[in-house]
Amino acid sequence: MEPIVDKFGRPIRDLRISVTDRCNFRCTYCMPKEIFGDDYVFLPKEELLTFEEIVRLSELFASLGVEKLRLTGGEPLLRQDLPNLIEKLYAIEGIHDIGLTTNAVMLGKYAQPLFDAGLRRLNISLDALSKEVFGKMNGRGTTPDIVLKNIDLAKEIGFEIKVNMVVQKGVNEREIIPMATYFKERGITLRYIEFMDVGNDNAWSFERVVSKKEIYDMLNENFDLEPVEASYFGEVAKRYRYKDNGAEVGFITSVSESFCSSCTRARLSSEGKIYTCLFASSGFDIKELVRKGYSDEQLLEALTTVWENRTDRYSDERTEETAKKRKKINMSYIGG
Ligand code: GTP
Ligand code: 5AD
Ligand code: SF4
Ligand code: SF4
Repeated sequence: MEPIVDKFGRPIRDLRISVTDRCNFRCTYCMPKEIFGDDYVFLPKEELLTFEEIVRLSELFASLGVEKLRLTGGEPLLRQDLPNLIEKLYAIEGIHDIGLTTNAVMLGKYAQPLFDAGLRRLNISLDALSKEVFGKMNGRGTTPDIVLKNIDLAKEIGFEIKVNMVVQKGVNEREIIPMATYFKERGITLRYIEFMDVGNDNAWSFERVVSKKEIYDMLNENFDLEPVEASYFGEVAKRYRYKDNGAEVGFITSVSESFCSSCTRARLSSEGKIYTCLFASSGFDIKELVRKGYSDEQLLEALTTVWENRTDRYSDERTEETAKKRKKINMSYIGG
């Protein structure tokens, strides 16, 4: 089949699949506990895509050009039987790479079964080494030692690991250098993520963003760095290498240097909607068509139309105004 492109000529290459809208954390920048409290209503089981539906849609996406899958949540390890899904996704023709983004709290139990199912790449979220700072940011008082222990375990099993740290002004800036030192020594890539205005509830403003430049300048005072060429077109992170030991560090600069012009990502939410941007206001309900009994041809036609009509470039156009006014889908539905 001919590769399809959107209105700006961008092909579709990646599919990020959210397998649950639930999470065991309440990160202040993602699912603040004031909003996601005890009475918050999550999706009922029957509204979640089944594994069969996820696999079928992934096959269809693969035939349109998707080569890379990423499983997200909420916290994807809360979804029962995840290794089973991974095994099925690996069997799809054209899918060369699968990654999982997790907070790693449950990795002690699942790392080995995930590896046995074929998974090799883990992106692990960790915002601080300080107990107090991390406990506050994750909204649950969870200490970093459990995450660090599970990172070691996963590394030992053989996973390729990246650590994601969301940096917020006045919250965890002091953790920038300790985190760099810790992960550099272990040869694990740490990526600093600029705080983004995802969802409608995280009290975002430009003043609360610590830019790549600010972080880079701090690192530069402590380490000798050199830039690394992007390893593929449209790579999200800007990468650098420590000259002395070759470990890498990266920046995800959605705010200060947006990367929409090379964005080849579609997102499939846990309830079966397709979003063509992390900051979209609405999605296309593909589950409805699947459950109505549409054929593969009919579904392919629908997916093609969605992608061919895509004009998203939110981060290129972001202003304080759009950040406040636009109604955005919650991060926990589409997994970042
Ligand atoms: P790999 O490059 O395959 O390792 O994955 P990744 O870096 O795309 O995945 P990950 O889930 O670790 O994402 C890291 C951060 O980048 C998260 O905060 C995402 O929300 C953000 N991110 C990923 N894709 C996009 C995107 O298309 N737009 C924006 N604005 N942010 C993105
Ligand atoms: N800004 C930046 N990154 C975020 N993430 C979640 N919410 C935000 C936000 N508001 C990150 C998580 C995780 C990844 C999937 O997205 O830390 O690493
Ligand atoms: Fe959960 Fe990840 Fe959101 Fe934190 S950022 S609340 S770990 S989904
Ligand atoms: Fe892609 Fe939207 Fe992110 Fe831009 S803001 S890179 S279009 S997901």
